[in-house]
Amino acid sequence: MNIAADATKPAMSDFNVTIRPSGKQFSVREHETILAAALRQGIMLPYSCRNGSCGSCQGQVLDGRVHYPRQAPLALNPQQLDAGQALFCQAVPQSDLTIAAREIDAVRDIPVRMLPARVQSRELLADNVARLRLTLPQGQRLQFLAGQYIDILLPGGQRRAFSLANAPHDEGALELHVRHVEGGDFTEYVFKQMPERAIVRFEGPLGTFFLREDSTRPMLMMAGGTGYAPLKAMLDHALHSGLDRSVHLFWGARNRAELYALEQAQQYARSSPQIRFDAVLSEPAPEDRWQGATGWVHEALLQQYADQLEEFDVYMSGPPAMINAARQAFAEAGLPAAQLYYDSFDFAPRTAG
Ligand SMILES: Cc1cc2nc3c(=O)[nH]c(=O)nc-3n(C[C@H](O)[C@H](O)[C@H](O)COP(=O)(O)OP(=O)(O)OC[C@H]3O[C@@H](n4cnc5c(N)ncnc54)[C@H](O)[C@@H]3O)c2cc1C
Ligand code: FES
Repeated sequence: MNIAADATKPAMSDFNVTIRPSGKQFSVREHETILAAALRQGIMLPYSCRNGSCGSCQGQVLDGRVHYPRQAPLALNPQQLDAGQALFCQAVPQSDLTIAAREIDAVRDIPVRMLPARVQSRELLADNVARLRLTLPQGQRLQFLAGQYIDILLPGGQRRAFSLANAPHDEGALELHVRHVEGGDFTEYVFKQMPERAIVRFEGPLGTFFLREDSTRPMLMMAGGTGYAPLKAMLDHALHSGLDRSVHLFWGARNRAELYALEQAQQYARSSPQIRFDAVLSEPAPEDRWQGATGWVHEALLQQYADQLEEFDVYMSGPPAMINAARQAFAEAGLPAAQLYYDSFDFAPRTAG
């Protein structure tokens, strides 16, 4: 008699989750989050930071109970929790569940792989931003959608997320824009110790921040700091595949030096009549002699689009403070949640995995 456990069958302690409106079902192992279980079984739910901060994985628990044994659901307020809203990257079932969630079919068939890569070059784009070019082992190619990110795998099970700054059609090395975080384990290594031709390991592609090509709406894109990286990838992809929608890119930084690829961003606007570009500085230095817009980048966007925001798809990426402020301000200005896509550049959770 074969008594080996069948890993494909739910164990007695697994909980069953049904997704509305699709009716798809999956099982969740003891201590597993709803998101981890769904991804393990090939069901793509939206996510970005995976640490409870950004709100990308927010959905509704229609029936059943969840709890948050790892990390408080920071992106939800008490009213949202009372109303049954949940963060699926942190919520662990305490019973069978019925949930309401959007499924993201476009990334479902793209394999997530663990690969080594060689750092072909490290180039300073600003005092605190480096461009890394990573080459894969011979014969290997990474399939991904423009806008997705990879996790650099560190010793001890730690990971650090970085967006891919080039588009999939680019046959060259994978490009990352890495901001130096003082005291940061990985970025201190990149800026101060990483030897030439270092080998890194990564997992990817990850995330559900990518261009929705089935939409016909014009687009607004908003970057803060190195949040420019995934938007650059999307623009490259859109231009390569024949852009037929208008794009207005806003890029916010503290000072001119932090707009580390300003000429490149301006070049997008010169290359196509459908692309517009505005740079916005929050703390321009006197030596910048800045003539452009100042203040918060999301406010600059609203100054031009507040009364017509519902006509656009909005893509944004960058620091959590910018993302949180913009999410609230854009919702108040009437942008439907389903037309807002974002990656919030949160720090990684302190735990492994
Ligand atoms: C989806 C995604 C995509 C990203 N893409 C990019 C990108 O393209 N480019 C880029 O530059 N960055 C990106 N980031 C952010 C990037 O992952 C972090 O800056 C990076 O992980 C920092 O790694 P580190 O090891 O240097 O710092 P860490 O060692 O993780 O931490 C640095 C410092 O911050 C403190 N810290 C850690 N956690 C917290 C916390 N929760 N709150 C406050 N302080 C904390 C630590 O004590 C330490 O002093 C992305 C993040 C996400 C989630
Ligand atoms: S809060 Fe869950 S993915 Fe960011």
